[in-house]
Amino acid sequence: MSLSPQAFLRLDRVSRYQSAPHKFWQKPVPAVPIFHDLSLSLTRFARVGLVGASGCGKSTLLKTLLALEVPDEGAVYCDGIPVRPGSVRALRWYRRRVQYIPQDPAGSLAPNQRVADLLSEPLKHLCHEKPQPTRLREALEQVELSPALLDRKAGELSGGQAQRVALARALIVKPDYLLADEPVSGLDLPLREQIKTLLLQVTEENRMGLLMVSHDISMLAGLCDRMLVMENGRIIEDRPTMNVLNAPRQPHTRQLLHAVPVLTGLR
Ligand SMILES: Nc1ncnc2c1ncn2[C@@H]1O[C@H](COP(=O)(O)OP(=O)(O)O)[C@@H](O)[C@H]1O
Ligand SMILES: [Mg+2]
Repeated sequence: MSLSPQAFLRLDRVSRYQSAPHKFWQKPVPAVPIFHDLSLSLTRFARVGLVGASGCGKSTLLKTLLALEVPDEGAVYCDGIPVRPGSVRALRWYRRRVQYIPQDPAGSLAPNQRVADLLSEPLKHLCHEKPQPTRLREALEQVELSPALLDRKAGELSGGQAQRVALARALIVKPDYLLADEPVSGLDLPLREQIKTLLLQVTEENRMGLLMVSHDISMLAGLCDRMLVMENGRIIEDRPTMNVLNAPRQPHTRQLLHAVPVLTGLR
């Protein structure tokens, strides 16, 4: 699987260990693997969902893909090019191609910064572009916000608006791929539904791939063609979403699905 020719992002036999803290006079505790010898290929335009119980390694996987965490073994590739954690400058090409929506995206915006400045920042730093007002307005329009918000401070936005600004900020550099870590976990149901529709729209319009971690399996079902299930650092299912939902092969997948009564309507 890891040698798939169309792979855009690839984890190649990556291991990441968690070393337990110990005092220098104590015997070091053997490192516990968060994941071990993990390989994963993500094709260019696909939308992929990642589910798993809390603590199973989903965020660490995303951070490794983003070169925010250094793998202890193995390598990450983007379009065949090795991606190594390094300086902001050395990773600029990668940040332009692969953007990130963190957990609590709204909270990641500095409350005192104006929306215009928040949107200008990635353009200046990653694209060396002088942000044109039209470009900033378009960025807001793409996430269905009024350009009038450009002069507002992030702290003055509603939760839904802030969420959309965080998305606009990831999209403004026109990335090829978006990695999202539970981007809707803090939102109520109608707002989640709106963000889902928006993500569907922007990934289609921009021909962009998406890897999204979420506990909201029904949201992933409406968004992702492929579903990964992770348990204790291993990917235990990797199949088309509807197959995983209709015929889960692993007991752990069944457990995760049982926690989502809403899904019965989908089957
Ligand atoms: N920076 C870190 N240092 C050491 N251990 C970590 C670190 N980040 C996460 N872990 C551990 O790695 C495991 C996986 O965590 P995480 O990737 O956050 O899981 P998830 O996102 O699926 O909830 C957990 O046991 C967590 O305690
Ligand atoms: Mg997490």
